Amino acid sequence: MAKKRQRRHAQKSVALKPAERYARALRQYEAGHLSRAEQTLNALIKLTPNHVETRVLLARICAHLDEYDRASAELQKAIELEPSNAQLRLNLGEVLYQAGRELEAVTALETAHHMDPENRRALDGLSSILFKQAKSERSVALWTRARSYLERYCALEPTNVPKRWILADCYEREGAKDKRLQTLREIHSIAPEDPSASHLIAAADGRGEVTTADISYVRDVFDAAAEHFDRELVDTLKYQVPQQIKSGVDALLKAGQSLGHVLDLGCGTGLVAEAIRSRCQSLTGVDVSSQMVENARKKALYDNLHVATLEDYLDEASTPYDTIIAADVLMYVGALEDVFAKVAQRLAEGGLFIFSIELLAESGFKLQSSGRFAHSDAYVHQLISRFGFSQIQGQEMTIRMEGTSPLMGVLYVLRRVRRSGSM
Ligand SMILES: C[S@@+](CC[C@H](N)C(=O)[O-])C[C@H]1O[C@@H](n2cnc3c(N)ncnc32)[C@H](O)[C@@H]1O
Repeated sequence: MAKKRQRRHAQKSVALKPAERYARALRQYEAGHLSRAEQTLNALIKLTPNHVETRVLLARICAHLDEYDRASAELQKAIELEPSNAQLRLNLGEVLYQAGRELEAVTALETAHHMDPENRRALDGLSSILFKQAKSERSVALWTRARSYLERYCALEPTNVPKRWILADCYEREGAKDKRLQTLREIHSIAPEDPSASHLIAAADGRGEVTTADISYVRDVFDAAAEHFDRELVDTLKYQVPQQIKSGVDALLKAGQSLGHVLDLGCGTGLVAEAIRSRCQSLTGVDVSSQMVENARKKALYDNLHVATLEDYLDEASTPYDTIIAADVLMYVGALEDVFAKVAQRLAEGGLFIFSIELLAESGFKLQSSGRFAHSDAYVHQLISRFGFSQIQGQEMTIRMEGTSPLMGVLYVLRRVRRSGSM
């Protein structure tokens, strides 16, 4: 009985017309029967090798199976049959990208773009790939290419905020300050509630009146940066503050001597912990970004971790600390009077306050176009004497690279000599 049924089924299949076979393959594909759909299509190709849709559907199946090289080979054959079909070039570009063949993907997407200049997917794919390459190769030519596709994309999508953020980033890296500011203003008018746009517009405007960063801006920036933070900061930007802190501490303490109970303000992903954990009796980390804290937690170097603003934590903590550290954090705070007062409250007599700043040549402190604050050495010295500290170290140093230039800062090591209330 079963053999008879199989024979009848086979006879029926042979009798099917190509269009019916294609429809059957499509049904099988849509029902998730990928290998059956593939068999139907392979049989169909033998009958009608020049049927474009068959090749396209086969390519889709291959892509579903993560076989991107095979998918691209099928699309190449389809393109040979219909060379002026922009959609095929677009599909090919996307599949080549998935196959890790980025240069070929860009060529295919550029051809699709020339054939259909308003195609959003082609512009999206091109700008994303070129932006990624520009970031890893730090190439001005690639930024410029990515930016030109982004400009076209944004012109076609007047309310798209994420692409405008990438466009603003490209302008920043190209040094096109006015265009960056204009893009930030566009973002602000589309999404007035976005704290990052308001903060960076104020920073780019160069108006002196901003004294602190919006905490939602800080949280957004670092939640987004957390995943690649260590690689980006240490490997690419040559971030040095944790190692400089370790050197400073090693110069100050004898072998085996401890920093005691240590509080790491704005602990981020725990780079400071990696550098000084062996010198800590206990180590507590605080950061406003839950994603950064999550990454710090994975390193298992802290005794306690808290997601909170450093200001709130200093207000609420009851334990006195022997050492408080803020590495590459105060540039996101601005005016430092409040932080100094609170640190002085939480620090045991004789305790250490170790922090870095970005150095400002002018007096006081200032929000820079980067969105971070820089502080002058004179301003820090006013705070040192006003809040009852003495300076032990104040070493000018390269914090990390900013583009191709070193970013200069100071690493301070202070000792609390008297309670701030007893001034
Ligand atoms: C550049 S990262 C430095 C992280 C870490 N200290 C290091 O050296 O690797 C700055 C960190 O400070 C945090 N931060 C900035 N302002 C803060 C605030 N007011 N309260 C708590 N965390 C803050 C950010 O979320 C971010 O994780």
